Amino acid sequence: MSKKRVLSGIQPSGNLHIGNLAGALQNWVSLQDDYECYYFIADWHALTSQYADTSLLKENVKDVLINCLAAGLDPEKATIFTQSRVLEHAELHVLLSMITPLGWLERVPSYKEKQFEVKDKDLNTYGFLGYPLLQTADILLYRANYVPVGVDQMPHLEITREIGRRFNTFYGEVFPEPEGLLTKFPKVPGTDGRKMSKTYGNCIYLSDTPEEVEKKVKTMTTDTQRVKRTDPGDPELSPVFQLHKIFSSQEEQNEVAEGCRTAGIGCIDCKMVLIKNLHAHLEPIWEKRNELLDKSDLLEDIIESGSKKAAKAAEETMLLARKAIGLDGLV
Ligand code: TRP
Repeated sequence: MSKKRVLSGIQPSGNLHIGNLAGALQNWVSLQDDYECYYFIADWHALTSQYADTSLLKENVKDVLINCLAAGLDPEKATIFTQSRVLEHAELHVLLSMITPLGWLERVPSYKEKQFEVKDKDLNTYGFLGYPLLQTADILLYRANYVPVGVDQMPHLEITREIGRRFNTFYGEVFPEPEGLLTKFPKVPGTDGRKMSKTYGNCIYLSDTPEEVEKKVKTMTTDTQRVKRTDPGDPELSPVFQLHKIFSSQEEQNEVAEGCRTAGIGCIDCKMVLIKNLHAHLEPIWEKRNELLDKSDLLEDIIESGSKKAAKAAEETMLLARKAIGLDGLV
C-alpha cells in the first residue's frame, strides 16, 4: 500500500526559534518515517511581503535549510526543496487564479490583519492578496492528504479545500481534500509571555549560544502575581512553565509546579531546570548546525535533488490538471 502524502512549507524569514522547533519542525520530523513527506522552503511566499529588499533572501533560505536539517529532517526520508525551483507551483497558481473569486481571498483573516499590523511595507499588492492561493497551489500540487500546520494556518487550509472542490466540480476529480494536522504546541510563549515571534523580539533562537539561552531564560517573566520568593505562585500563569511542558520530563514538570504552588522553590530554581533541559535539547542541533554552516555545496546538492524529486511529483499532478481543463495538446 502506498503511503499517504504529507506536505508542509516554512517561510525563510531567517533565524528559526524554539517556537518553530516545537510548533513545526519536530512535528515534521516525526512524520517522515510513516508518510511520503514533501517539505519546502516557501521563498515565493517570503516575496509577497519582502519584495522590496531581497538582499537577505538567499542567506535566509540557506539558514532555514540548515535549521531543518539540524532539527532532524532527513533528505533520505523526506523530499526537501525550495518552492521557486519547482515552477509547477506557479503554473497551478495561475490556473487556480482563474476560478478563485476575489471575495474568497479578501475574506481570509490574515489578509486584513497583516495589512493592518505591518505598517512599514505596502501590502496592497496582487501577490499579497494571492498569498493563500499560492499556498493552495503548494498543497494541491502534491495532492497532499495531510498538512501539518499551526492553528493560524487553518483558514488557508479551508480555502485550499474550497478551491480544490471548485476545480473538481468544474473539470472532474483531480484533487483530494487535504486535512490539517495540528501541532501539539501551537503557541510557544516568548521571553515576555507573548507568542514567540521575531516581530516581538522575544525569541530564543536555534542559533543562540548556550550562554545566550541561559541569559534569556533568566530574564523571562513568570507568574507576575508572585512578587516575593515566599509568595506561592500559579505555574499556569508562567511562560516558563509553558516551556517546561515542551522541554522537561513529566516528573520535572510535576516537581516545579508543586514547588511553585507551595513557594518551595523560587523562580530561578525553576528556570535552572529549564535551562538544563533546553541545553540538552539543543545540544545535538547546535552540533549539526555547526557542521553544516560552511557546507554550501552539500546544501545545494540536497536542495537541488529534493527539488528534482518534487518536480516529478508535481509534473504528474499537472498532467492530470492540464488534461482535465483541456490544455493537454490538440489531438
Ligand atoms: N503560510 C505558511 C506559514 O506561514 C507557509 C506555507 C506556505 C505553507 N505554503 C504552505 C504551509 C503550504 C503549509 C502548506 O507558516
